Amino acid sequence: MGEAPLLEVDGIRKAFGGVLAVDGASFTVEAGTVTALIGPNGAGKSTAVGIIGGALAADEGRVGFRGDEITGLAPHRIARRGLIRTFQISREYPAMTVLENLMVSPMNQEGEKLATALLAHRRYRKQERELVLKALDVLADFGLYGMRDEYARNLSGGQKRLLELARSVMADPVMLILDEPMAGINPALVSHIGEHILRLREAGVSFLMVEHNLEVVERICDHVIVLAVGRTLARGTMAELRQNEAVVNAYLTGGGVDAGTAR
Ligand SMILES: Nc1ncnc2c1ncn2[C@@H]1O[C@H](COP(=O)(O)OP(=O)(O)O)[C@@H](O)[C@H]1O
Ligand SMILES: [Mg+2]
Repeated sequence: MGEAPLLEVDGIRKAFGGVLAVDGASFTVEAGTVTALIGPNGAGKSTAVGIIGGALAADEGRVGFRGDEITGLAPHRIARRGLIRTFQISREYPAMTVLENLMVSPMNQEGEKLATALLAHRRYRKQERELVLKALDVLADFGLYGMRDEYARNLSGGQKRLLELARSVMADPVMLILDEPMAGINPALVSHIGEHILRLREAGVSFLMVEHNLEVVERICDHVIVLAVGRTLARGTMAELRQNEAVVNAYLTGGGVDAGTAR
């Protein structure tokens, strides 16, 4: 390939009091891939993606995205560069409609205020109209068009998950970071969300995805990074990792993983 990786994580370290959550993890994500980040509970996956997305400050190490260092930038500034992290627990705006939720850009720290302003001021009508058209398009892509005027709080858990993904897409992301997007949802919806992720990959979006469900990883992820006790233990395809004794011992033993509690 010879091309520089889209995302480069180099020696990140983060301690919480006496707990070393991430201990010098290094890995890359290639453009055009869905890359999984797997590992036992407490391995440091959420902390690592928190650092990458700018929600947490690393004690050491650097993060590069599209060839630029983004270490320590605020989340909305990282989002403006096309790297967007969605949350383990959907953070939809419950008292706004589905359509309004899509008009809250993750690139704006005060998104809710911006949306309110957009909805309130006539001079924003042209931008508003364009934003609405784009939002309706995205809702249609996610099968949520019929729910556009429903309050977000009235959506099912699965629809909220789709809404979260749809909101991220509004920002035209280059790369999405998903922390356990399949946690706590039924198998039909798991496969449905998987299809959306693959559709977005075909449209040019790259993914880093923390995922416990190894069947999902096998089906939709091109590469897998294994984190254990805060360090990168291995990377490869699932097939390659099954041949890796250290990985099997640390993580794949018993043929399954405790579905675990999302953290
Ligand atoms: N905000 C925090 N304060 C204290 N300890 C934390 C915090 N976040 C994570 N940890 C600890 O850091 C370690 C890694 O956690 P985490 O990154 O959530 O792992 P994972 O997502 O792989 O399950 C765990 O021991 C966890 O208890
Ligand atoms: Mg976690």
